[in-house]
Amino acid sequence: MSAPDPVRCAVIGTKTIAGQHLPVLQTLPEAEVAALCDIDAEALGETSRRFGIERTFTSVEDLQTWGEFDAVYVLVSVLAVAEVSERFIRAGIPTFLEKPPGLYSSDTERLAEAARETGTTAMVGFNRRFYTCLQAGREALLDTGDVVSVTVHADEDAGDKWFGEKFPPEVSMRWAYANSIHALDLLRYLGGEVAKVTSVVRKRRLPKPDSFSALLEYESGAVGRAIADHFGPKGSSHWYEARTASAVLTSQARSSPGDRLSSCTLERHGREPVRFGLTGLDRRLKPGFPGESRAFLRAVQTGEPVSFPAPTLDDAVRTMKMIDEITGAEEWAPKPAS
Ligand SMILES: NC(=O)c1ccc[n+]([C@@H]2O[C@H](COP(=O)([O-])OP(=O)(O)OC[C@H]3O[C@@H](n4cnc5c(N)ncnc54)[C@H](O)[C@@H]3O)[C@@H](O)[C@H]2O)c1
Repeated sequence: MSAPDPVRCAVIGTKTIAGQHLPVLQTLPEAEVAALCDIDAEALGETSRRFGIERTFTSVEDLQTWGEFDAVYVLVSVLAVAEVSERFIRAGIPTFLEKPPGLYSSDTERLAEAARETGTTAMVGFNRRFYTCLQAGREALLDTGDVVSVTVHADEDAGDKWFGEKFPPEVSMRWAYANSIHALDLLRYLGGEVAKVTSVVRKRRLPKPDSFSALLEYESGAVGRAIADHFGPKGSSHWYEARTASAVLTSQARSSPGDRLSSCTLERHGREPVRFGLTGLDRRLKPGFPGESRAFLRAVQTGEPVSFPAPTLDDAVRTMKMIDEITGAEEWAPKPAS
């Protein structure tokens, strides 16, 4: 049987993270980059030259009118993701959305509804679920029994986001959704559905709540602990620990260099620890990006829905509602009235 035709992808948003997605799309045989689109002509021109992609558009309207693509990658600034994605989802065009799909759960719910109504394939870029080390470590952990506890730290020094220039205050305010969502989503990836959250929220360094400590009760009876301290000089420090009754899976130690999610270790009584590192394309491309794109492109090629661990919009809504409970942000940073 011959291989299916590559999916012709239009990439919208061509700056920072596009520079990590494009090498993946140009490596995978399942993809072909048909066009680039960005409202910033300079960023567009630079990326077009760097990756040798000739067809470019400075508006999504013009891109959509051209229409010679099978799917879109929406990699635009945080506040633009929902609006740009909704246009393509409503038009029935398979859509990959960078996180967060919406900055507010209600926006993500609207997108999920649009995908359901139109039957459009849509997938959210929670790429940590696709780290090859975590996938292998999770499988090995589950071989030892049911998960009984999950601890996730989504600590980061969010001061530079709050006081810097790249992010508008609305995004800095909801940094837990804009970025810590990567780690917090692992609470559900590792532990399953959450039934109840009890949280303590404090304001320490930033002029807004910046310290979140929550106890989770999973539907399975397992417990979770979510910690996100968004201050301190340590920089980004996302890590996890998940236990069954006889084993524990822990992400890389702080003393090792680099991203603490880039390896994990399974320990069991009376056995040598087993370490899982990044494998395959994760070793030379942005970890998790090859796996998530393969899952999305396969769904587009086959017409089958994306399936676990690929995050659907409904799945993203559940993660965001869990974060609503952890942060209480609907109280102190609700969606501005438009
Ligand atoms: N998965 C990850 O690890 C990861 C890491 C960083 C960023 N992200 C996400 O990727 C997205 C982009 O982040 P970034 O750091 O690349 O941002 P960026 O600001 O560097 O680039 C965004 C680009 O989108 C363009 N843009 C904005 N509105 C547009 C519109 N309506 N139509 C077309 N182009 C538009 C901007 O001109 C800009 O060039 C965000 O949602 C962010 O949360 C994900």
